[in-house]
Amino acid sequence: MNSKPAPLALYVHWPWCLSKCPYCDFNSRPADPANLPEAAYLNAITAELNHYASQTNGRNLTSIYFGGGTPSLMEPQTVAQVVESASRLWGLHSDCEITLEANPTSVEVAKLRGFRAAGANRVSVGVQALNDADLRALGREHSATQALRALDIAGAVFDRFTFDLIYARPEQTLRAWEKELSQALAVGSDHLSLYQLTVEPGTEFFRRNVREADEDLAVKLFYLTQEMMQGAGLPAYEISNHARPGAHSRHNLTYWTGGDYVGIGPGAHGRIRDQGVTSATHQISDPARWLEAATKHGHGTAKVRILSAAERAAELLLTGLRLPEGVSRERFTEQSGLDIMQALDPQGLKILVDAGLVKLDDSTLCVSPEGRLTLNAILERLLV
Ligand SMILES: C[S@@+](CC[C@H](N)C(=O)[O-])C[C@H]1O[C@@H](n2cnc3c(N)ncnc32)[C@H](O)[C@@H]1O
Ligand code: SF4
Repeated sequence: MNSKPAPLALYVHWPWCLSKCPYCDFNSRPADPANLPEAAYLNAITAELNHYASQTNGRNLTSIYFGGGTPSLMEPQTVAQVVESASRLWGLHSDCEITLEANPTSVEVAKLRGFRAAGANRVSVGVQALNDADLRALGREHSATQALRALDIAGAVFDRFTFDLIYARPEQTLRAWEKELSQALAVGSDHLSLYQLTVEPGTEFFRRNVREADEDLAVKLFYLTQEMMQGAGLPAYEISNHARPGAHSRHNLTYWTGGDYVGIGPGAHGRIRDQGVTSATHQISDPARWLEAATKHGHGTAKVRILSAAERAAELLLTGLRLPEGVSRERFTEQSGLDIMQALDPQGLKILVDAGLVKLDDSTLCVSPEGRLTLNAILERLLV
């Protein structure tokens, strides 16, 4: 048994945005930043930090991630105070990664230096598209010129920066995406997140009956993306995430490799393993109700649930098989209490191995690049 305390990541959710994008099903809502009770939110976040720190004593933070919503709408001073509290309560690893998601509007870009001074050492910019017509169709508040300027400033202020693009957009051709991705690569960041558009129930796109790209085109777009990113020296280290060697997001890798994380803020979730048992924590989603609960009770936790070994095994495979290196059998056993063979259906496994979609050896279980395209179907066959 390893006596060294396991590393821990911290996620802080800021649910507010300038407006609601029609494709977005994240826990985010439009609000006028000038009318938000930011000090009250900071107090509530601080209360939750105290609450969860008391349950994860003695563990240092390896990363902090401010996600949203649009955390770049926060005042840098608010970010500074959250980082300061986290540092005091847990202690930060010497190379703790502190990422903040930022949107490229001018108001937010003007604050990037402030976020750097507040302790953030990595910024993730939500660009989504590099042409104005598509940015408008995606309901974004910025232009392509503003996005490129934001990236320029992000690169000047931060040693590490990344940006997000959404592809397989309505009417987008292979040729158009190839051109746009070349333009994105010319920016010179060492990390890029490239997501295929999904149309989720409950979103404005869903109501408008916007169609996802047909499967044939989606597959071609995916392979083109993999080839171009590999060729540029930023291979995929997860289905949608690409980086130069060493430039991956340490925070997100913690999720995908089954590490522990504390989730603070409305709708945030966490995973905390203690004495061989993993608990899933869920904060109240509605920001106003979360604020009220956290202010009154010191936390806005809606639910804490102990995961069964089978549930834990399923989620470790669901996240870990997104990575090219797959799931380490040794780590899987540490994190679920099961040998990986106890979680797999022998017949399903044999069929998938014979088809070349899955590889299992003494140390690892992994899925081929083709298999990763249809991971949900693979998992359905693979799990007992
Ligand atoms: C938490 S969200 C947004 C962060 C930030 N507020 C922004 O809008 O840039 C993180 C990323 O998920 C991606 N995303 C959100 N909804 C999506 C969808 N329906 N399909 C594909 N990607 C999506 C976007 O690239 C987005 O930047
Ligand atoms: S995509 Fe980003 S800015 Fe748009 S609504 Fe979602 S979280 Fe907010």
